[in-house]
Amino acid sequence: MAKLTAEQLNSLGLQQETLPRHVAIVMDGNGRWAQKRGLPRSFGHRAGTERLREIIRFSSDAGIRSLTLYAFSTENWRRPEEEKSVLFSLLIEYFNSEIDELHENNVRITIFGEKDPFPEKVRAALLRAEDKTRNNTGLRLNIALNYGSRAEILRAVRRCAEKAVELGAYPGDEAFESELYSAGQPELDLMIRTSGEERLSNFLLWQAAYAELYFTPIYWPDFTRDEYIQALREFARRGRRFGGLA
Ligand code: FPP
Repeated sequence: MAKLTAEQLNSLGLQQETLPRHVAIVMDGNGRWAQKRGLPRSFGHRAGTERLREIIRFSSDAGIRSLTLYAFSTENWRRPEEEKSVLFSLLIEYFNSEIDELHENNVRITIFGEKDPFPEKVRAALLRAEDKTRNNTGLRLNIALNYGSRAEILRAVRRCAEKAVELGAYPGDEAFESELYSAGQPELDLMIRTSGEERLSNFLLWQAAYAELYFTPIYWPDFTRDEYIQALREFARRGRRFGGLA
């Protein structure tokens, strides 16, 4: 991976100053992508994983600070055992094959969600990835696994309540954000969802308060670097006022 210069960004129709600092993606449509081709759903998940590499690489090269990907929700446990096992194998495979390159490129991996319910092999791969990249200072790559936003918010509230008991006083509004998985990372600027669905589905509800939303009918395995660049250009065109005046 090589950082893109301002000139290179310009040639893609992008400018450093109008890039989002934090992008989140709901990688939706793997199953439909496969079905459309008469293939089993697992092929869609594999193709989706391939696509991931390109998007992560471009985010890092463009100097985006944080990229948060929704890979497995708290509701995804309801999927058939066979599909979950494909997803878990892909996760292990992904982390084993990519971790060295990500580490070399200074990417820091954080898992958003509780890792305990995952099979031991998955848990070990996730912990290894977090540990190995802990001190990296480049792109923050957050992978939401067994993640649900309401559960995240309740966990933060519970921790604040515990702090309050300990302190015998209200721990302050900042204590809440510091208990979210996204603590210390830039505000979410852009939320992308592929596959034509236009909802947040319990993803980063607190963080998305002022995020720009970008929906595209394209299925995740077809969401190329060029599609991503198009979303970033659209973001740059939006007038963000944060409740104030332009
Ligand atoms: C949504 O498509 C996608 C998922 C539930 C899984 C996303 C996972 C990956 C892209 C691969 C694994 C991730 C990593 C980090 C290696 P869907 O199955 O809901 O599609 P559908 O709505 O068309 O059925």
